Amino acid sequence: SGYDLLVVGSANADLVIGVERRPAAGETVLGTDLVTSPGGKGANQAAAAARLGARTGLLARVGDDAHGRMLREAQREAGTDTSTLLVGGAPTGVALITVDPAGDNSIVVSPGANARLTPEDVAAAEASLAAAAVVSLQLEIPLETVAAVARAASGTGTRVVLNPSPPAPLPDDVLAAADPLVVNEHEARYLLDDGAGSDDGGDGDDAPERWAAALLERGPRSVVITLGAAGALVAERAPDGPVRTVRVASPAVRAVDTTGAGDAFTGALGWRLGRGSGLEEAVRFAVRVGAAAVTRAGAQESYPNAQELEKEFPA
Ligand code: RIB
Ligand code: NA
Repeated sequence: SGYDLLVVGSANADLVIGVERRPAAGETVLGTDLVTSPGGKGANQAAAAARLGARTGLLARVGDDAHGRMLREAQREAGTDTSTLLVGGAPTGVALITVDPAGDNSIVVSPGANARLTPEDVAAAEASLAAAAVVSLQLEIPLETVAAVARAASGTGTRVVLNPSPPAPLPDDVLAAADPLVVNEHEARYLLDDGAGSDDGGDGDDAPERWAAALLERGPRSVVITLGAAGALVAERAPDGPVRTVRVASPAVRAVDTTGAGDAFTGALGWRLGRGSGLEEAVRFAVRVGAAAVTRAGAQESYPNAQELEKEFPA
């Protein structure tokens, strides 16, 4: 039988340093000891889902090096099927991450092997894709590879979850395949601004509702906007037209490290959708997983298993 969730995306070694504040251009600051840990938006989503109990696959590419072996081991530990974790072509992707005292991060990614995940790799994994209930995509791999997955998925009836992160212009057919499109406020603004210089109409309390409606106009069947501590907004267009939006609150937490919390949210969301949950119900589950992830350091290392989730953030 197939996967609840197949993630197609990036795997990075996260090189993390805590700082009091970020350096300005030309400036040097001292930070904490270096921590090297498994990350990458794709690998993070897969680890989050697998650790919760999902039947999960990961189509990704790492280098033939120590970072690649660390990433494979982390997936194996989480319970991901690593049969489509490919090796070679370039060094494993690396993310240079600084985390400040508020738990906020800044990240520079060197894609490395992620940039060598090709449409041919997707074609070779077509059977896994066809057998997956949901496929989840982000943008740390080539856009043509993302587009190949979206196209293949529409042929096999596999549901596509798309998190356009880091944000980049998206072809219409990729946007139209998303169900849902998952964006944070920054990504929503990016997609709506479109280089046309138009703002989204300002910032009032209902800005997320307006962004969601505007994003739905671009073609995705549904939109989820993550709102950090404020939870998430779910927007779906009924077949006969009207847009229905619902806000889902997040449990209150003290943020230690937000790195990869969005990936935990999206991996958990994809899993619940793959198991047949409705979108709002899946988002209610995913905000608990995202909340758990911000209470601990690191990305994958901070993700809860099902038992921890029920204990720390009961439904
Ligand atoms: O979303 C968090 C992730 O972004 C990190 O794990 C880092 O690898 C970058 O890809
Ligand atoms: Na974390």
